[in-house]
Amino acid sequence: MLEGKTVVVGVCGGIAAYKVVEVVSRLKKLNADVNVIMTENAAKFVTPLTFRSIAHNPVITDMFDEPKEWDIQHISLATKADVIVVAPATANIIGKVANGIADDMLSTTIMASKAPVVFVPAMNTNMYENPIVQDNIKKLSERGYIFLETETGRMACGTVGRGRLPEPSAIVESVSELVCSKCDLKDLKVLITAGPTQEPIDPVRFISNKSSGKMGYAIAAQASKRGAKVKIISGPVNLKTPCGVEVIGVKTAHEMFSEVMKSYEDFDVLIMVAAVADYKCANTSDKKIKKKDDNLTIELVKNPDIAKELGKVKGNRILVGFSAETNDLINNACEKLTSKNLDLIIANDVTQEGAGFETDTNIIKIIKRDGNILDFPIMSKTEVGDRILDEVLALLRKDYY
Ligand code: C5P
Repeated sequence: MLEGKTVVVGVCGGIAAYKVVEVVSRLKKLNADVNVIMTENAAKFVTPLTFRSIAHNPVITDMFDEPKEWDIQHISLATKADVIVVAPATANIIGKVANGIADDMLSTTIMASKAPVVFVPAMNTNMYENPIVQDNIKKLSERGYIFLETETGRMACGTVGRGRLPEPSAIVESVSELVCSKCDLKDLKVLITAGPTQEPIDPVRFISNKSSGKMGYAIAAQASKRGAKVKIISGPVNLKTPCGVEVIGVKTAHEMFSEVMKSYEDFDVLIMVAAVADYKCANTSDKKIKKKDDNLTIELVKNPDIAKELGKVKGNRILVGFSAETNDLINNACEKLTSKNLDLIIANDVTQEGAGFETDTNIIKIIKRDGNILDFPIMSKTEVGDRILDEVLALLRKDYY
């Protein structure tokens, strides 16, 4: 329910504008106070009357319309908004905001607002993939603007590719989650490693493990919903980027290590969820290894232990590790808590049904430095994410007061 929430919907000039009628209708059904701002070009695709009839609010198209109220419209909406959704977000509006241009009602409102802004891009594939557009998206993401991922499929221009507007239901779901969630992690910066690593043997083979990345991505999604700025350094996974989260993709443990080391200083909380390969091949063949003898011996050498290296330099940052075990859960986890200088370790017995890799649920124990152990029943990975973040927050508050 969005009772009492003001959602400003900025509609730009793209064919997907017609789908935004459905977005407004769904927001309205959730009892949001929906205020639509249309660019001049948007009004050529769908009439303001359509949006007005559904939103039950005046639709703003022109900066210099006679004001309906005494206050300045772009300032009043910018202040009133709990969230601004721009859909379809064209290359034009993204470019304008990225470069500080405020020359119409929508760009001016965005510029004057402190509310979260969700851009839902939709445009021709080549346009979307244009490095200038991608640079603008990156620049805005780094400044905290949220981008929903476009979908891939048949475009209005007849081509097939990236750049389609996501389904209205998905847009509304993201917006509701953003507005309704508690913002207790606001201003916190959280760095997460997730997924497996792949250690090459030759150009077509690698050593890896069963990690799906679901646990790390679930923590990232919850942290972002609770207001944190989140970055995932991710091994190869098949998962959607959580709303508002920045993802850096890597393959090997060394690449993950180097990305983490480049970033960690800017973060307050470091959560190491990745199942990093402990060993890599001593020598990687640059040609495919041929079947020859009955036995093949591959020499392995140790990879850097990212969590352990962070433990040496973490300072006041909160460092959380995971301990996926098949036996002697508590002892193994406690040993890692100390040897890696972690603040919390999340222990899970991966042999239990509903726990560990690939599943959507997990069964965890949170072990603290003072030896306290919190025991949890089976929960969704989303819930597990929230419980871990609650403990992180408790540690931060303890340090602060
Ligand atoms: O020692 P073990 O691999 O069991 O420790 C697990 C914890 O350490 C996890 O938090 C994992 O992300 C982290 N780790 C790491 N780099 C490694 C191995 C593990 O960051 N090379």
